[in-house]
Amino acid sequence: MSTTTGPAIQVRGLRKSFADVDVLRGVDLLVERGSIYALLGANGAGKTTLVRILSTLLPPDAGTATVCDLDVATRAAQVRGSISLTGQFAAVDEVLTGRENLVLMAQLWHLADPGARADELLEQFSLAEAGGRRVVTWSGGMRRRLDIAMSLTGSPPVVFLDEPTTGLDPQGRLEVWGAVRTLAAAGTTVLLTTQYLEEAEKLADRIAILHRGRVLVEGTLAELRALLPPTTVEYVEKQPTLEEIFLALVGDDPSDAGEHAEDGR
Ligand SMILES: Nc1ncnc2c1ncn2[C@@H]1O[C@H](COP(=O)(O)OP(=O)(O)OP(=O)(O)O)[C@@H](O)[C@H]1O
Ligand SMILES: [Mg+2]
Repeated sequence: MSTTTGPAIQVRGLRKSFADVDVLRGVDLLVERGSIYALLGANGAGKTTLVRILSTLLPPDAGTATVCDLDVATRAAQVRGSISLTGQFAAVDEVLTGRENLVLMAQLWHLADPGARADELLEQFSLAEAGGRRVVTWSGGMRRRLDIAMSLTGSPPVVFLDEPTTGLDPQGRLEVWGAVRTLAAAGTTVLLTTQYLEEAEKLADRIAILHRGRVLVEGTLAELRALLPPTTVEYVEKQPTLEEIFLALVGDDPSDAGEHAEDGR
């Protein structure tokens, strides 16, 4: 873990092209330590490309990027030791139990007590009850939380989550949001990409909108709201949103999540 005190992530003038497509055309970004930062953008805006550069999987064409004050181009190995990356597709082994998946990962990290670390993570992500069951019997939200837990086995200070809730139902999304908040509360920096505006609204300390290869706007939700002209005040009866109705009927108690039968994936 790095002991320096600069921002968790700093990006300056980052550029990346594929063949004749200029995906990133000068991206600047600053993510403070311990914050949740959301990167929004349409399909193909370059979110995954940016995350792949920051996690050293892809070299930039120009510009600089540092993670924990380490340059991703010249200090790739150290950067990798400071981060975790969770992609959209779960890396969990369905044949194993949740706990076995975590123990395996802790062994790969050569931790002194893999079982203890596995139990700690199961607890942190509210998966302790289901931990002894094979993952094939778990719901999508539980699998995604396990996937995030696995990537955190080595306690990295910076975590990249590329569309952590895509494909999940509202209940599963709430579960993952809870896990992300727990992480940030423990001081971990989280950079997540999302298609769901509500996700950025609910979770993020700061939000950046990536558009046409650049950061179009950046700020807190209040700052972004201030960009639009003030709304006129109208008095209307507040109708519940579909999400509120869904959750009221189906319930949003995370303890229910352990009761799902095999979901056929
Ligand atoms: N390895 C590659 N080779 C060629 N083109 C690529 C490659 N990776 C990404 N691209 C192109 O770069 C652009 C940005 O892709 P990227 O995956 O970063 O977008 P995104 O914002 O993550 O989109 P989505 O919301 O669909 O995940 C797209 O036009 C994509 O086709
Ligand atoms: Mg993507």
